[in-house]
Amino acid sequence: MSNSTINALVHTLRYEAEGIISVELRPYGDTVFAPFEAGSHIDLHLPNGLVRSYSLLNSPSDRGRYVVGILRDRNSRGGSEFVHGQLRVGMQLPISQPRNNFKLDTSARHSVLVAGGIGITPIYCMFRQLLALGKSAELIYCARTRKEAALIEEISGLNARVLYHFNDEKGTMPDLATYLAGQPADTHFYCCGPTPMLDAFESTCEGLGYPHAHIERFTAAELPPSEDALNSYSVELKKSGKTLSVEPGLNLLDVLLEAGCDIDYSCREGVCGSCETKVLEGDVDHRDGVLTKAERAANKSMMVCVSGCKSRRLVLDI
Ligand code: FES
Repeated sequence: MSNSTINALVHTLRYEAEGIISVELRPYGDTVFAPFEAGSHIDLHLPNGLVRSYSLLNSPSDRGRYVVGILRDRNSRGGSEFVHGQLRVGMQLPISQPRNNFKLDTSARHSVLVAGGIGITPIYCMFRQLLALGKSAELIYCARTRKEAALIEEISGLNARVLYHFNDEKGTMPDLATYLAGQPADTHFYCCGPTPMLDAFESTCEGLGYPHAHIERFTAAELPPSEDALNSYSVELKKSGKTLSVEPGLNLLDVLLEAGCDIDYSCREGVCGSCETKVLEGDVDHRDGVLTKAERAANKSMMVCVSGCKSRRLVLDI
């Protein structure tokens, strides 16, 4: 399990929208909360044994509190169901340190942020950060209905450029190609939302020739192994000098842990980014939801919890 949990106290639970609550966490005992960047998430280690990652929505200038927004997922495998049904104010909760897989480039001339449903949580934090820095930014906020959209009041109070798209009011799903067209090529684009929206966002940005597209997935990407993925391969560990073998049916993370490697991990689903490991050689079969297409192509790192290998030999920088 992740080796760096800290103790938090559930300080406030708040209704945010239909099916969405926010959880405000404060340090418990002598714990100190580390500062975080906009776009970061934390893992909640729930009492039912599940570990779930949620984006921080409060301002990075807040000291001593982390706030996450949580949707009661209709297909919950026990995480959001527990939070909505059983988490109580006053409970202690181990959490991870904040981690950021969704970095904001504050040097961009202009930024367009796209949120789908509960994907508003990191996007809201990033949008506020850009505005606070006096940067040019606009928000496209999509949800099925207005009453299922969290933080609307807060966003309206920002007095900023916001386009709302509620499917029931517009009578259609958002057409990202229309909403994103006509921006200068050096604009930075960010999207957090359900998988089909992220896929549409990535292909739209590619089609419009926008090189700076950033995404954050909050559910397992569930990418199947590619056709040329190998069932068995050898793994050389550059720093420790060990050579391991991944046999059919074995998971690379398990093989590394079994060999005594000190690897941080949490979700085991290719979502949280905690197990990211530097790759020195080898052709990785990326199956995570953390790396962008460009990062996958660069082949410099991999999520060892879900990804595999397409070459006989893989060399990792551990
Ligand atoms: S453990 Fe979460 S991405 Fe690998």
